[in-house]
Amino acid sequence: MSHLKIVNVVGARPQIIKSSAISRAIHNSFSESFTEILVHTGQHYDKELSAVFFDELELNKPDYNLGVGSATHGRQTSMMITGIEEVLMIEKPDCVIVYGDTNSTLAGALAASKLHFPVIHIEAGLRSFNKTMPEELNRIVSDHASTLLFAPTNAAFKNLMGEGFKPENSPPYTIDNPKIYLTGDIMYDNTLFFADLAERKKTAFLEQLHVQRNSFILVTIHRDLNTDDVQRLERIFTTLKDLAEEKEITFVMPLHPRTTISLRAKTEKLNNELLNCRYIKIMPPVSYLEMTLLEKNCRMIITDSGGVQKESHFFKKPCIVLRKETEWTELVKNGTATLVDADPEKIRSEFARYMQPGIDLQYPGFYGDGKAAEFILGEILLLFDNR
Ligand code: UD1
Ligand code: UDP
Repeated sequence: MSHLKIVNVVGARPQIIKSSAISRAIHNSFSESFTEILVHTGQHYDKELSAVFFDELELNKPDYNLGVGSATHGRQTSMMITGIEEVLMIEKPDCVIVYGDTNSTLAGALAASKLHFPVIHIEAGLRSFNKTMPEELNRIVSDHASTLLFAPTNAAFKNLMGEGFKPENSPPYTIDNPKIYLTGDIMYDNTLFFADLAERKKTAFLEQLHVQRNSFILVTIHRDLNTDDVQRLERIFTTLKDLAEEKEITFVMPLHPRTTISLRAKTEKLNNELLNCRYIKIMPPVSYLEMTLLEKNCRMIITDSGGVQKESHFFKKPCIVLRKETEWTELVKNGTATLVDADPEKIRSEFARYMQPGIDLQYPGFYGDGKAAEFILGEILLLFDNR
């Protein structure tokens, strides 16, 4: 059997978290088969968005940190491509793994495919069908530059077929003869692995926040759509503050720095009201285990995050999604997540509906069996055994 050198490209918070599922599976089940080189583009650089995950998820430190930082899309992505290309020319890996849909994903996929290294895309096939979202272009381009595409859901798999990917392709797989798989979600692997650990290690966190189990609302907001448009930002946060005060329910809000910066700069008065509201707890981003604990113990989640939408399902919590559309369509069809855009009336009516005592919500297993990472690594090995 082959021994493969893989380059793992990460950059933003959710990718560091996702890559930990692959690193753990290599460590536990495939250590003879893979050598992993971790490249961090530096897209996220604050401790709360990056270093905290390396410590907590016991990840090896990156072999390369490109230190790219924040910039416009073109500048940021081009600096990443330059840096990743240099690493690939030094390391000459067998293949390159990219995750999700950020600019780091796009840069990894472009740098690798142009140098003819096979690209493995984990979380392939997701589509919002809204190309004004930066992530949508990143997804489409990354998928079409990939050799193995691992779709986490039926909907994602169907999207790939809709774009001409053929499930019946046979080996040897190449960028021109790619292979698509339905795998389940590596984020579910992580949740299954870390949920109990979060309870054991972080229970005191709930006490520090002075919140009771099953009695608070968890909120995350970071998408450019909501942070950069001051009207949406104001509408959302005013509605959440009013709801918290009317219902006398605590809203726990670990906020991405992008959101904190916008609130401060664009809505000073509202920002002060939020900070002074006894029912609103705004805080910097929390660690993955803290977040897992909050998700597990909250009453409901309100978010514009992709990952947090799915985690709401893993923990059987209703989810209000502050977007017009979502890639995780099965959640909406299932009636446990609702798209409310930034509409105060919809936020209020869905909030009231999900707070009803005894509301009957079901959470079927949409996201696999918690072993997606092992499956993916097995298939990567086959790619090379079949050459
Ligand atoms: C990025 C991804 C988004 C993903 C999110 C996960 C793209 C286009 N977007 O969005 O898909 O959902 O990560 O969290 O790739 N900033 C800091 N500290 C940091 C990093 C960023 O303060 O460590 C601030 C800066 O003001 C920066 C802004 O956040 O300009 C946006 O950062 P950026 O990495 O461009 O996008 P995200 O909004 O984080
Ligand atoms: N997350 C975290 N701390 C936080 C907010 C989110 O650890 O304060 C985790 C969350 O549990 C999920 C991932 O970050 O695993 C989602 O990332 P994010 O919302 O930044 O990006 P998206 O999934 O929307 O791309």
